[in-house]
Amino acid sequence: MPMMRLDKFLSSQLAISRTDAKKMLRQKRISVNGAVAIKPELQVDPCADSILLDGRVIAYRQFLYIMQNKPAGVVSASADGSVTVIDILPQELKRPGLFPAGRLDKDTTGFVLITDDGAFAHSLLSPVRHVEKTYVVTLEREATMEEIEEIRKGIRIGEEQFRPAKLRPLVQTDGLPQYEIILTEGRYHQIKRMFGSQGNAVCALRRVQIGGLSLDPSLRPGESRLMTDEEIRLLAIRQNI
Ligand code: URA
Repeated sequence: MPMMRLDKFLSSQLAISRTDAKKMLRQKRISVNGAVAIKPELQVDPCADSILLDGRVIAYRQFLYIMQNKPAGVVSASADGSVTVIDILPQELKRPGLFPAGRLDKDTTGFVLITDDGAFAHSLLSPVRHVEKTYVVTLEREATMEEIEEIRKGIRIGEEQFRPAKLRPLVQTDGLPQYEIILTEGRYHQIKRMFGSQGNAVCALRRVQIGGLSLDPSLRPGESRLMTDEEIRLLAIRQNI
């Protein structure tokens, strides 16, 4: 494992800014191999050295797993002419190699998982694994029972056969009809095309779960945070990754 500066290690592992990492060092809260460390430029080996914050070990994470509440108008890509989900990450979470595991349309909002762990992302996206993605869709008009059944059984659009989807109406107080839809595949504009083929239009689309893991409701649109070890483990266990 290559050596790295201590302040860089702290900011990447704790998702704090370099300035906050330096402050932590000045406050003598960090020790390296038993000795209090105050120098940001100290070279550490993340795998071999014992680095503690307030006496507790900072376990080294090789990969980052980030949960983002994607706002509308942002593109799910690493690089693009327009603003991407990577561009809007807070500075302390930005690191080379990050990419979104799966795509949402520019106007779709909600849960995007961003990582630099290619194998993990590949398993989540693999078409043979059928990982469930849950969306709340707002439609122009109510779907009929026949239309709901068609989508539940697996709708056919021209030559294209879609897998069966779970679809249920959500209780509504006012406004346009909303449904929860759970897909096990990710085709281009899938939900819009499914309802569009029935003469209905999607007015809003929000992804709320990936593999049964819910988007943190405290994340406001545009906000991101590191996923907890528990969340990563849950997702990995559920998907047998
Ligand atoms: N289906 C769509 O039509 N768009 C998305 O962004 C995701 C699923």
